[in-house]
Amino acid sequence: MKTILQAKDVNKTFGTKGNLYTALQHISLNIEEGEFVGIMGPSGAGKSTLLNIFSTIDTPTSGEIIIDGQNIVSMSEEKLSDFRRNKLGFIFQDYNLLDTLTVKENILLPLALSKVPSSEIERRVNEIADTFGIRAILEKYPYQISGGQKQRAAASRAIVANPSLILADEPTGALDSKSATSLLESLSMLNASNRSTIMMVTHDANAASYCKRVIFINDGELFRELHKEESTRKQFFQQIIEVLTSLGGGHHDAV
Ligand SMILES: Nc1ncnc2c1ncn2[C@@H]1O[C@H](COP(=O)(O)OP(=O)(O)O)[C@@H](O)[C@H]1O
Ligand SMILES: [Mg+2]
Repeated sequence: MKTILQAKDVNKTFGTKGNLYTALQHISLNIEEGEFVGIMGPSGAGKSTLLNIFSTIDTPTSGEIIIDGQNIVSMSEEKLSDFRRNKLGFIFQDYNLLDTLTVKENILLPLALSKVPSSEIERRVNEIADTFGIRAILEKYPYQISGGQKQRAAASRAIVANPSLILADEPTGALDSKSATSLLESLSMLNASNRSTIMMVTHDANAASYCKRVIFINDGELFRELHKEESTRKQFFQQIIEVLTSLGGGHHDAV
């Protein structure tokens, strides 16, 4: 098995001397190729901070992070921008589609930037559009489609270049439950058929139940982890709710 992400003793403090806030401490975890990992924890636990650090958007105060064999903490800004483009895929809550481009143009952007030949671009855009069920809206502009369709377009764009690691922060946060289910089913399918490696931050136990493993953080520290293994999604959902309940605060949503 190939390890895609290796985090060793990652710490993150915000603020200045005399007014320091520890957002993450002693976070060590590995993500193997083909995993679909959820990150959960109460509001303020440090989930987005962790995702931002893995995304190379933010840097840890200390600790080591290896993604696909490369140490991202010591990497120059120039190398990082190539690294982000070639190795990482991002799915955000607010889609980040470009309004002046069609859905198809949005999706093919990462391939065009990597100078992939146009016949290959055509093939890959159609393939990913089929996975996410958006073939019929490829020529439309973002303002012409629904939130759920926008998120499936954004997910297609994140995945089309076959990144080593797909990072998603609350991807279902702005979606109605039907659209959320459709996105999550597509992500699961992609994870199963393509062995895409996905890390998804979510506060929603239903969304997390699509993952194969869920890591819980609390007050910036690892709290627990659950493996789905032979459980059905419903059983896994129940196990997730139990851990959230033990964390207190009632931060989870009902199905
Ligand atoms: N740029 C920042 N400056 C200061 N504090 C921050 C910053 N970003 C996050 N924090 C703090 O770090 C903690 C974790 O935040 P975050 O990672 O966004 O939590 P979560 O995503 O789990 O809700 C919170 O207490 C938050 O206020
Ligand atoms: Mg957050």
